[in-house]
Amino acid sequence: MSEEILKLVKLTKKFGGLTAVKDFSMTLNKGELLGLIGPNGAGKTTTFNLISGNLAVSSGNIIYQNNDITDLRPDQVADIGIARTFQNIRLMSGMTVLENMQLAFHIWNDYNILDTIFRTKKFKIKEKKYLEEINKTLKHFNILDYKNDKVDDLPPGIQRKADITRAILLKPDLILLDEPTAGMNPSETDELVEIIKWINKDLKISTILVEHDMRVIMNICSRIIVMENGDIIAEGSPENVQADKKVIEAYLGKSYQV
Ligand SMILES: Nc1ncnc2c1ncn2[C@@H]1O[C@H](COP(=O)(O)OP(=O)(O)OP(=O)(O)O)[C@@H](O)[C@H]1O
Ligand SMILES: [Mg+2]
Repeated sequence: MSEEILKLVKLTKKFGGLTAVKDFSMTLNKGELLGLIGPNGAGKTTTFNLISGNLAVSSGNIIYQNNDITDLRPDQVADIGIARTFQNIRLMSGMTVLENMQLAFHIWNDYNILDTIFRTKKFKIKEKKYLEEINKTLKHFNILDYKNDKVDDLPPGIQRKADITRAILLKPDLILLDEPTAGMNPSETDELVEIIKWINKDLKISTILVEHDMRVIMNICSRIIVMENGDIIAEGSPENVQADKKVIEAYLGKSYQV
């Protein structure tokens, strides 16, 4: 039997009278690349916000590597190896790409403030190692040339790639990608598909992908969960999900063709 990395048990989130996520249960196996799709307002981003600790759970549980993480804060969730990207990119405005990447490394910093001020040998060795890692990852994402540019000035596609790079630098075991191809042109999207495959297969990071581009989802996900009104309406292989009447009605549309 494959090993579970994440399990959601009857997860529920209420915003006043609105139940955005309703008794939602699912599991993600280690190494899996799962697609989470559904119409606008289905509860996909809210589910990510609950897992990452950005929103408090109303009821239900989040189990990660056999530990209950339901009540952890976002920084604690990041520390245990869950990284995410946001539907609205959250890079630090006014800072360069490199500076944004350096922020990712603060969780590893075991040197103290004196090390930083006096740039001790230990600090320099670590800094060099981090810079190498950042350069290598930026190069893999084909955005090394933008390293010293302020993030605000960059096209949306490049900002998206920088945001995913930042998440990868946290060396997560699980990554939650919220509409990573939004704002990308077709060639950037093709490039990102390869990057997501690389993240999942080569870096061995279990992945949940929320995405409206069905070409991307059907192409790379081994399993798909379809949400509507906060819960699952269908689940299965891309072939099965595409042929499901409920999914076609709720989301894909009657004229849908891949
Ligand atoms: N912080 C919030 N406060 C109140 N309501 C919210 C909040 N966040 C989300 N909602 C509501 O919860 C529901 C689910 O929203 P969510 O953003 O999770 O949908 P989604 O599936 O990500 O949609 P999309 O595909 O448009 O990104 C929506 O009705 C939304 O308006
Ligand atoms: Mg969303």
